[in-house]
Amino acid sequence: MPLIVTLDGPAGAGKSTLARHLAQQLGWTYLDTGAMYRAVTWAAMDRGVDIGDATALGALARSLRLALLPGPDGARVEADGRDITEAIRSAAVTGRVSAVAAVAEVRDAMVAEQRRIGEAADLVAEGRDMGTVVFPDAPLKVYVTASPGVRAERRAAELARAGRMVDVRALEQELVARDALDSGREVAPLRPASDARHLLTDGEDVQTLLGKLLGWVGEIR
Ligand code: DC
Repeated sequence: MPLIVTLDGPAGAGKSTLARHLAQQLGWTYLDTGAMYRAVTWAAMDRGVDIGDATALGALARSLRLALLPGPDGARVEADGRDITEAIRSAAVTGRVSAVAAVAEVRDAMVAEQRRIGEAADLVAEGRDMGTVVFPDAPLKVYVTASPGVRAERRAAELARAGRMVDVRALEQELVARDALDSGREVAPLRPASDARHLLTDGEDVQTLLGKLLGWVGEIR
């Protein structure tokens, strides 16, 4: 049985950085499930599928050939053979992805794919419902959080590195609004698993947090 570590939490809490580094250190597969929902959103926009049409979105999610390949900065994402690694991070996709991720048919398709991946390899799985829905039996579940201000600062720095300047306050409001959508939805809302360990990342550097995570992994191995 492959080992699975789940990292859930809101946007900008530091999940991606931690999950990526942890997977690298352990030599395990890194599964970025947010990228999967982003890929479906991108494909819907690319093909003119109505974001409000749950049936059409479900059909699209089931038929899309998604590939998450190891890349220099996390996973490289391909949909039907097209590299969409950068396209899925656009503001247009980010603005629509919460609505797409709230569609039960889309989630069913993604969850099935995520479990398939989890059967094949030791995994660090990052998302919103990894510990609660997708891998409820994972031996280590971590809920990663940070205060909204810190999360907005991190997102702004990330966007600045990509050449996009943004208003941090506006970003903070967007993050809080997206959290409300992700935690308030009916299907697989964002919340910690009852047996999750909590990791608050405010003011902590990556190496310290990674040390803590590696310690926890040591306990389950
Ligand atoms: O982590 P991210 O920002 O790339 O996630 C994109 C969106 O997908 C976000 O609105 C939450 C949603 N998501 C989800 O509903 N379930 C997951 N397992 C991962 C992401």
